[in-house]
Amino acid sequence: MHIYGVNINHNLYETLFKEMTQYVSPEKKAKIHRFRKPVDQVRSLFGDLIIRYILCKHYGLHNNEIRYEYQEFGKPYLPLHPHYHFNISHSGDWVVGVVSTSLVGIDIEKITDLKTDASSLALTAEEIEKFRKLNETERNAYFFELWTLKESYSKATGKGLSEGLNTLRISTDNGIIHILKDENTIDAYFQILECIAGYKFSLCSLSESLHKNIKLFPLNGFSEEAKAFFML
Ligand SMILES: CC(C)(COP(=O)(O)OP(=O)(O)OC[C@H]1O[C@@H](n2cnc3c(N)ncnc32)[C@H](O)[C@@H]1OP(=O)(O)O)[C@@H](O)C(=O)NCCC(=O)NCCS
Repeated sequence: MHIYGVNINHNLYETLFKEMTQYVSPEKKAKIHRFRKPVDQVRSLFGDLIIRYILCKHYGLHNNEIRYEYQEFGKPYLPLHPHYHFNISHSGDWVVGVVSTSLVGIDIEKITDLKTDASSLALTAEEIEKFRKLNETERNAYFFELWTLKESYSKATGKGLSEGLNTLRISTDNGIIHILKDENTIDAYFQILECIAGYKFSLCSLSESLHKNIKLFPLNGFSEEAKAFFML
């Protein structure tokens, strides 16, 4: 399993942005250009590029043999390479991606101030009770931790928010994180990645123990490094 993150809080030179778009599919390029805000264009482009980069660098694929298709709820997958699974997430200044040989989901969220009613969207009654006993700073951290854990699971299955995050309960036992639905524990393995201050960042794998190898890049550094692999 390989995880990479790109910090997009840097000026990306126009020429480099244009150059990097040539490494994605024409459909993706069109999608990127439909975003009005440059930040959304960069998020969309670099999520795609991170996955291409990992597949080329660590799994020996050529960029031109990488093609995405989309499942029922929008999860992209690799029809030509069904043994490899991936997932992408973006929030604030970060775009992150993971590739694995097992079904995997990843979610990053910038910790922000919460509107109090947000809790009922994502938390069970028991979790809301705990949430209400915390002070504001603790609440924000607790909420986004549970949110990213649950969303990483729902992104691993591909169901996304249609899963109903408030129907899933997170429980921790001796430092091991479990997820329960209707009080039944689901087979899923979690990891909270503590490498980015001010964010909650969670990973879920459906059939493999996880590990912590993650590499973080600035935008231009990633572009230069990735280009070398795409041109091979
Ligand atoms: C998947 C989903 C949870 C992502 O939420 P988000 O916090 O806005 O976005 P993130 O940045 O964490 O992840 C976005 C990436 O997840 C991936 N993704 C999209 N749908 C996905 C799904 N169903 N499962 C897993 N990953 C998915 C994409 O790669 C996307 O990035 P891209 O568009 O740049 O390629 C949300 O879009 C969703 O639930 N989609 C499914 C549609 C749906 O069920 N809607 C019902 C709403 S009640």
